Amino acid sequence: MKAIVLCAGLGKRLRPLTWSTSKHLIPVANKPILFYALEMMRDAGINEVGLIIGEKNEDIKDAVRDGSQWGLKITYIFQKDPKGLAHAAKVAQRFVGKSPFVMYLGDNLLKEGLTGFVNSFNQNKPNALILLYHVDNPSQFGIAELNEGRITRVMEKPENPPTDLAIVGAYLFDKNIFTAIDNIKPSKRNELEITDAIQYLIEKDYVVQPHIVQEWWKDTGRPEEILEANRFMLDHIEPGIKGSIGENSKITGNVFIGEGTEIINSDICGPTAIGENCKIVDSFIGYYTSIGSNTVIKNSKVEQSVIMENGTILNLKNRVSNSLLGRNVLLKSSQEKSTEYRFVLADNSFAEIP
Ligand code: G1P
Repeated sequence: MKAIVLCAGLGKRLRPLTWSTSKHLIPVANKPILFYALEMMRDAGINEVGLIIGEKNEDIKDAVRDGSQWGLKITYIFQKDPKGLAHAAKVAQRFVGKSPFVMYLGDNLLKEGLTGFVNSFNQNKPNALILLYHVDNPSQFGIAELNEGRITRVMEKPENPPTDLAIVGAYLFDKNIFTAIDNIKPSKRNELEITDAIQYLIEKDYVVQPHIVQEWWKDTGRPEEILEANRFMLDHIEPGIKGSIGENSKITGNVFIGEGTEIINSDICGPTAIGENCKIVDSFIGYYTSIGSNTVIKNSKVEQSVIMENGTILNLKNRVSNSLLGRNVLLKSSQEKSTEYRFVLADNSFAEIP
């Protein structure tokens, strides 16, 4: 079976990080979000993946390359001017051919993987199998209504949702979805909605079945969702100490420390992941923190945060908490001008200072 993974979205809600990085490459537990999806594809027995990218996603090509590190064959499919999820599927029609395929939104994280989903499709052979999840805020998602093992209606972000069953970013379709897409019109937000194409299938009496997620699912569109996903993924990391831990340092809980990293006179409290060639000196790294490679932290306290590669944090009096820092960020306390704040922040940056 083939899969298409949609990565052409602009990630506007994650600016300024997404000015320079595709949102699918933002790391959680020190691994890009998209890599979790590719691992799931491999584990579900999928070997050919079409990655749908836009003009700003060249970094995805650099990171994923030909996919051989996962044993996958990757084809890049260009979606100029993204006009919705159904538009993305249409762009991939030639790649998909006539066989059933998985469609997956590249910024979603799914604990239980796709194996059960693919097996259920192969056993029951519906025309579409839609992954659903019980959520607290259903009006922010596509929503499904069920009856006797079938989906009887779907709607996109209704004001008064009739159920709490959100359409998760994973779908399994047979070739009839392309007929459906050819028959829908752009929505209020001027997109070709995959939800409308699914509703078309239902109305034409095709078999559309639900598959309900039992474990954890997260759409990582906003900073707080990245931090939540980071906490969740850190709860499942394999501990391992590959760097060096100095005599006056203490490691507690599940901690991963990459090669070449030095921990000097510091406390590291897991679950936490620290990349390669970092230097942590006279500092405290609290739980639920991911620190990218080549980062230096001195005389500071950091917890529940994602610090991307090449960061520098020096001499901060207060604890850095619940923060998301992009690559090459410098945070330091100025020893001389103690009453001034000084910032160089990109568009849409955010700082909160006591
Ligand atoms: C899209 C779909 C929606 C689905 C959601 C899942 O919404 O249109 O049906 O519930 O993904 O993440 P969007 O993220 O484009 O607003």
